[in-house]
Amino acid sequence: MTDDTTLLANDNATRHATGDGEADVLVRRATANDLPLVIELDGDNTGLHKPDYWGETFHETERHPGQHFLIAESASSDHEFLGFIVGEVRAWEFGSRPCGWILTIGVVHERRVAGVGSALFDAICERFAADGVKTVRTMLARHDQLNMSFFRSQGMMAGSFIELEKPID
Ligand SMILES: CC(C)(COP(=O)(O)OP(=O)(O)OC[C@H]1O[C@@H](n2cnc3c(N)ncnc32)[C@H](O)[C@@H]1OP(=O)(O)O)[C@@H](O)C(=O)NCCC(=O)NCCS
Repeated sequence: MTDDTTLLANDNATRHATGDGEADVLVRRATANDLPLVIELDGDNTGLHKPDYWGETFHETERHPGQHFLIAESASSDHEFLGFIVGEVRAWEFGSRPCGWILTIGVVHERRVAGVGSALFDAICERFAADGVKTVRTMLARHDQLNMSFFRSQGMMAGSFIELEKPID
């Protein structure tokens, strides 16, 4: 769990202590140079290779305040890529007050269960709070135990909206 956060002057980066003796994690805005590693990690996590999607997502988050594409890297000199998170503020959909949505998160397999995901979660929540929203939401498959355990560990609980769906083919 993150136990310390320091805002760094450089590009709004934040430093997060993982609190387990591991090196600190630096969370910063993504650059175009990060995309190949993000695409590879997302491909591992989802089984889908989506370079166009990630290129568009990056350019959208560059253009719009309230959209956040963040990278976690080792705070040591090698700046090892550790993971990413993407989210945005959505306003007044279906009568809900503006809130922060976490759209996706990924931590490299070898660096999991060491506080990196928590650092990413804390970092995006800080940015959502700075955007002026009071609530963070996400959506995940009911039986996705890993992501469910992770988001529950961050204090998230079932919210007051439900998803409805129907095939339209
Ligand atoms: C979910 C994920 C982001 C967690 O990242 P992480 O860096 O391992 O998370 P943390 O180390 O900060 O863990 C925080 C808490 O989450 C829970 N957690 C994390 N991994 C877990 C696991 N494998 N099993 C059960 N609980 C787990 C624990 O409660 C943990 O706290 P603890 O270490 O004190 O027990 C990472 O496993 C991941 O990238 N998974 C794939 C995500 C994915 O499917 N993305 C695509 C769709 S969004």
